Amino acid sequence: MTTADRQGRLLAISDLHVGYAENRALVEEMRPETDDDWLLVAGDVAETVADIRWALETLSRRFRKVIWAPGNHELWTHPKDTVTLRGVARYEYLVELCRELGVLTPEDPYPVWEGPEGPVAVAPLFLLYDYSFLPAGCATKEEGLAYAHGTGIVCTDEHVLHPDPYPSREAWCRARVAETERRLAEIPADLPTVLVNHYPLDRHPTEVLWYPEFAMWCGTRLTSDWHRTHRVAVMVYGHLHIPRTTWLDGVRFEEVSVGYPREWRKRSEPPGKLRRILPMEVGSGDRGTAPGVGRGRGGTR
Ligand SMILES: [Fe+2]
Ligand SMILES: [Fe+2]
Repeated sequence: MTTADRQGRLLAISDLHVGYAENRALVEEMRPETDDDWLLVAGDVAETVADIRWALETLSRRFRKVIWAPGNHELWTHPKDTVTLRGVARYEYLVELCRELGVLTPEDPYPVWEGPEGPVAVAPLFLLYDYSFLPAGCATKEEGLAYAHGTGIVCTDEHVLHPDPYPSREAWCRARVAETERRLAEIPADLPTVLVNHYPLDRHPTEVLWYPEFAMWCGTRLTSDWHRTHRVAVMVYGHLHIPRTTWLDGVRFEEVSVGYPREWRKRSEPPGKLRRILPMEVGSGDRGTAPGVGRGRGGTR
């Protein structure tokens, strides 16, 4: 092993969905490459607090640092969960759980990765979505939702992701975006960033969705220039269950989803493999690759 090999890695994964026994087994096998590895977890760990705790606790014992950004599934008030909190109260409960486990959240100061290809500020984000990734031909959220109800592709969030005390999920999203912009502006101007969010900051990854109307639940146009304005080295996201690497304006976007067993069984690569974010793996991405390679289904992400 060379000196470089002994230095830590910045690794990432998302959409663990450990409510599935097969996915739980994948998490049980997840290990760092070195003693100094950090793990970014970009949301959709599970739906119940007990499952979320199990997964984050398991991973936090193995990695030097675990950094979590919430997915929509963690924010569901699920009928199977003994914790019945809604909206902001549920999110704050999960932040407290993470603090108990030593896992960093969007509410903590952004840590600085000093390993290979650093330093970079690592910022887990919680931004939600605001229905602004509308289907073609739709001008408003109402038109978009009417179209989605017509096709039957409606995200489960509509029933179980409550925005309380905000009047709507888009109002919660706008508040999160404003507060996050303020936080990101405080990062020293000479420091590149790795931004970790459940949703892509730009719409391009949703262009391969089998059901394009699902994009309404996949992010916000409010962040479409953030990869340029916040010195982003790598943008890490999940949610679409279409793991891949794309490049936009010279910025690497990494979707790091595991997804559901019925999805990962169809892929050729082994499931649950942690994605190397830094240092960049040789051959992990070609800057000339246009967004839009591959194809995935829209559904209950
Ligand atoms: Fe998701
Ligand atoms: Fe997911």
